[in-house]
Amino acid sequence: MKDLLNVLIVGAGSIGGLKPNEFDSPTNHSKILTHCHAVKFLEEKKHLKLTGIVEPNLEKLCEVKLKWNISEGYITIDEYLKTSNYADIITIASPTITHYEIVKQILLSEKKPKIIILEKPGGYNLNECTLINNLSSEYKVPILINYIRRFNSHYQTIGNLLKSGFYGKILNASLCYTRGLKRDCCHAIDIFNWFFGDFTSGQSLSYSNLIDDYDTNDLTEPFYLQYENCPHVFLRPCDGRKGSIFEIDIIAEKARIIFVDNGTKINIHNVQKEKIWGDYSVIPSECKTIINNEFTIDLINVYKNAIDYLSSTGDIARKKLCCTIDDALNVYKIIDNLRYEE
Ligand SMILES: NC(=O)c1ccc[n+]([C@@H]2O[C@H](COP(=O)([O-])OP(=O)(O)OC[C@H]3O[C@@H](n4cnc5c(N)ncnc54)[C@H](O)[C@@H]3O)[C@@H](O)[C@H]2O)c1
Repeated sequence: MKDLLNVLIVGAGSIGGLKPNEFDSPTNHSKILTHCHAVKFLEEKKHLKLTGIVEPNLEKLCEVKLKWNISEGYITIDEYLKTSNYADIITIASPTITHYEIVKQILLSEKKPKIIILEKPGGYNLNECTLINNLSSEYKVPILINYIRRFNSHYQTIGNLLKSGFYGKILNASLCYTRGLKRDCCHAIDIFNWFFGDFTSGQSLSYSNLIDDYDTNDLTEPFYLQYENCPHVFLRPCDGRKGSIFEIDIIAEKARIIFVDNGTKINIHNVQKEKIWGDYSVIPSECKTIINNEFTIDLINVYKNAIDYLSSTGDIARKKLCCTIDDALNVYKIIDNLRYEE
């Protein structure tokens, strides 16, 4: 029997392990929305074993151990590092402000894992993300970043089609977003970096009416970006206190692709001959809709990517990681370019 890879998860919050059962439950694998659930699912398939969890809140620690049947619980990462247990994969799903210190503690210890899975955005700011990247290079431990859309097959297909020129030249894109450039908009910047080639320039569109709808240190603001393969990208801010929105709209020569409802629905509008007035083409309101894109299995793909990467050593070329600390760094470089970071 092959050796299972042991996994330790750090942080038992909303994405780590504790969503209400109606959203994420050990008995319903049709929706897998936490790291604990994804690892448990792959434990059943005999790929991984969830061996431990780190959570400073005692009540949550007991709850998560019980919910996911995890044998070892630790209050701090230090406590884990002092035991004789070893995790091949360490997932960090604690608050962003803790990411750098936890990565540092792990990588300076004797118990370096084979890979770290780090929640987006990967450190609290550009400086921390750079330090994490340096540690990863120095100690040769790769870091897989969970920008979840990178692991979704529909995004992968559309990204490949856009990059191959299937939809013609990309003409413009926009994002309507709430809850901060760093917290929510970072997902879109990562997608633009992925789909549009090199970032070439960016600027703020206003220094007034900035929106404080989630975190005073991370305002929701209007920006304009330019990329090698997309000349105009607009980031449109919206006040998210009454309702959040995250919608990406990409217009290319042959189609308009709109990711609505947080990207859970993708509408593709193909350019057609105009039917009423004459001999020109239009982008119609009618569209082909891709549904069932609720990111319900993509966390499994994060772990499968890590497993494939780790199992493809030796003579076989290493499988590529879908999203690395370099990708997280590229997002932060843009955020930093757009506004002064604290
Ligand atoms: N990839 C995505 O789509 C996505 C979605 C949501 C959140 N996130 C990211 O995941 C991370 C966690 O977000 P969340 O919404 O689950 O937060 P959360 O506040 O619900 O959970 C964080 C948990 O970590 C625990 N914690 C605090 N300090 C810790 C420490 N030093 N060591 C271990 N655990 C500690 C907290 O007690 C809490 O239980 C953030 O970095 C966030 O940006 C990513």
